[in-house]
Amino acid sequence: MANIKYTVPGMSDADSERVIALLQDRLHAANDLHLTLKHVHWNVVGPHFIAVHEMIDPQVEAVRGFADEIAERIATMGGSPKGTPGSIVENRTWEEYSLGRGTTQEHLGALDLVYQGVISSYRDGIKELGELDPVTEDMFIGQTDKLELFHWFIRAHLEDKGGNLSTEGATSEKDAAQSAG
Ligand SMILES: [Fe+2]
Repeated sequence: MANIKYTVPGMSDADSERVIALLQDRLHAANDLHLTLKHVHWNVVGPHFIAVHEMIDPQVEAVRGFADEIAERIATMGGSPKGTPGSIVENRTWEEYSLGRGTTQEHLGALDLVYQGVISSYRDGIKELGELDPVTEDMFIGQTDKLELFHWFIRAHLEDKGGNLSTEGATSEKDAAQSAG
């Protein structure tokens, strides 16, 4: 528990501590995501290398910005943001990204699943924050808007002209990579 000594005016310590916990979970998610996206930027191969390699970097930059916003909101609310690599690994509720070198389609298939997980958790947070703290809710909504756009950039590579996703029904990154590849 955060055990805060002060928080923003008009909020109880208990409510702020819950909001800080939601923020800390998203900080781990954002830090994990921008590192994973860089890993993909470095490991994609194949004929569409340069398109995907270059598409990923603006996403890395944006998600790093989200992490900064989230961490500073934690500090603003009287908490102490945890941003060390060990704390991400210790506290995350998802598995390490599972692909090494792979084709652009394989990585895009796996990233479809990564974004599904990240965005679903943001939406869970938004539901809870509607009651607790509309200011943090607003930040989550703004970040989710961008994440959903980036997710579409990924999915547009996996979609046929009938609108079907090659990754439909995949339950793991490896599975999605195989369906997309
Ligand atoms: Fe680079």
